[in-house]
Amino acid sequence: MVEPNKQTRRNRGFYVVKMRILHRRQSDRAAFCYRYLKWVLWFSLSLYFLSYSLISHHKSPTSLSKTTVSLSKASRALFESNNKTISRQPRPRQGLLNDIRVYVYDLPSKYNTDWLSNERCRNHLFASEVAIHTALMNSDVRTEDPFEADFFFVPVYVSCNFSTVNGFPAIGHARGLVSSAVELISSEYPFWNRSRGSDHVFVASHDFGSCFHTMEDVAIADGVPEILKKSIVLQTFGVKYQHPCQEVENVVIPPYIPPESVRSTLAKSPANGRRDIFAFFRGKMEVHPKNVSGRFYSKRVRTAIWEKYGADRRFYLKRHRFPGYQSEILRSVFCLCPLGWAPWSPRLVESVALGCVPVIIADGIRLPFASAVNWPDISLTVAERDVRKLGRVLEHVAATNLSAIQRNLMDPAVSRALLFNDHMQEGDATWQVLRALSEKLDRSHSHRRPRVSDE
Ligand SMILES: *[C@@H]1O[C@H](CO)[C@@H](O)[C@H](O)[C@H]1NC(C)=O
Ligand SMILES: *[C@@H]1O[C@H](CO)[C@@H](O)[C@H](O)[C@H]1NC(C)=O
Ligand SMILES: *[C@@H]1O[C@H](CO)[C@@H](O)[C@H](O)[C@H]1NC(C)=O
Ligand SMILES: *[C@@H]1O[C@H](CO)[C@@H](O)[C@H](O)[C@H]1NC(C)=O
Ligand SMILES: *[C@@H]1O[C@H](CO)[C@@H](O)[C@H](O)[C@H]1NC(C)=O
Repeated sequence: MVEPNKQTRRNRGFYVVKMRILHRRQSDRAAFCYRYLKWVLWFSLSLYFLSYSLISHHKSPTSLSKTTVSLSKASRALFESNNKTISRQPRPRQGLLNDIRVYVYDLPSKYNTDWLSNERCRNHLFASEVAIHTALMNSDVRTEDPFEADFFFVPVYVSCNFSTVNGFPAIGHARGLVSSAVELISSEYPFWNRSRGSDHVFVASHDFGSCFHTMEDVAIADGVPEILKKSIVLQTFGVKYQHPCQEVENVVIPPYIPPESVRSTLAKSPANGRRDIFAFFRGKMEVHPKNVSGRFYSKRVRTAIWEKYGADRRFYLKRHRFPGYQSEILRSVFCLCPLGWAPWSPRLVESVALGCVPVIIADGIRLPFASAVNWPDISLTVAERDVRKLGRVLEHVAATNLSAIQRNLMDPAVSRALLFNDHMQEGDATWQVLRALSEKLDRSHSHRRPRVSDE
């Protein structure tokens, strides 16, 4: 192991303390400073002795108990600001994630948690912005020392400003909120300027992701904000062709479905598991879609489905909202997932999680986590122009390979990958995000401290 340069370590340690102080907008800084440093010294000494005695009982790093690990992690930053000669305790390696570390900015609450006063903010289909933040805060991958981070997560919730008129999220303020967050972090911390944002991670879970607009033509005209163009955006929007709203390093993530809702629906499922609905869709199906600057909702695909199959007894099509719709998915063999304004749909996740074969009707869609979910094995894809042949296509599959698809769909790893948990689980959606980031380590400009090897 190479001994890190002591001078830089001291500066870094000092910086950590300095930044925290900067963050606390205290008027009486000097007094606070003094109290803080005294506390840090006292606290780190006691933690040091406590973890030292714990660690000496566990000689091998692989047998470190969870408590020991989190203690030594929590105390690491504190150690280093005081005692420059203590070497770090080795962290358990998480091979699949390349041992990456993520620093989560502690932004003022107006950028994020203030929005949670509306309960919907953490449950609606765009709530992956909240879920990923929550999971990272609880995760071992998070580091409190930005100098050892590979990636920097900027927690801004842009989709939680619900319009009082129609109840839909108003994202008109999104660009302003994001750029104000970037101004803040780039002036208070050195990391944004160092990499020009290329190791910084944002979530854009709205229709056209980092273009921050619901209507595709406006989204395209606006494009990805200049300020985000060098960063990494986690977005629900993804297509396989060139599109202005993905002209940024991005990871396609699933829309948010509360895992509890899926679990409680499954718990209520009938014991026989019978699926008595052949093809299911519930959602907006305009009979005469409005022409919005030459664009029609769902490119009129949903209208075609309604026209052709509205009276077909094999199809269970409903145009109105119903809170118990998940139990309908559970009763269905095929669940239609046609595009809306954007190609993606929360139905993709709900169908998979509830064992209904998703029928994807959205040309060119790029689906989330292709390395974990083998979409062609668990779903059907029907071209938008073939939507009037849907009945025949589904009958054919039901007569041939339906049971193979259903078997693939039963693999618990598949639905696990599409659901976000408050406490990250191996293989879940946040874990998949981290895995995707771990494959982008070349973008990280971190000057990470030399690592302590596991041996
Ligand atoms: C600093 O760490 C060294 C080595 O672990 C230890 O011997 C020394 O007592 C520590 N000093 C303080 C001030 O904690
Ligand atoms: C919410 O969105 C509306 C419309 O985009 C905007 O006028 C308003 O300022 C936003 N509210 C906040 C608190 O940002
Ligand atoms: C980062 O760059 C901006 C623009 O050049 C500057 O205003 C800001 O002070 C810099 N931040 C730091 C921490 O040096
Ligand atoms: C839709 O509206 C645009 C003008 O906004 C018009 O040019 C176009 O012909 C209309 N398309 C249809 C199919 O009505
Ligand atoms: C099932 O059959 C359909 C239509 O013949 C085909 O497109 C699809 O790839 C098949 N899926 C699997 C998993 O075998």
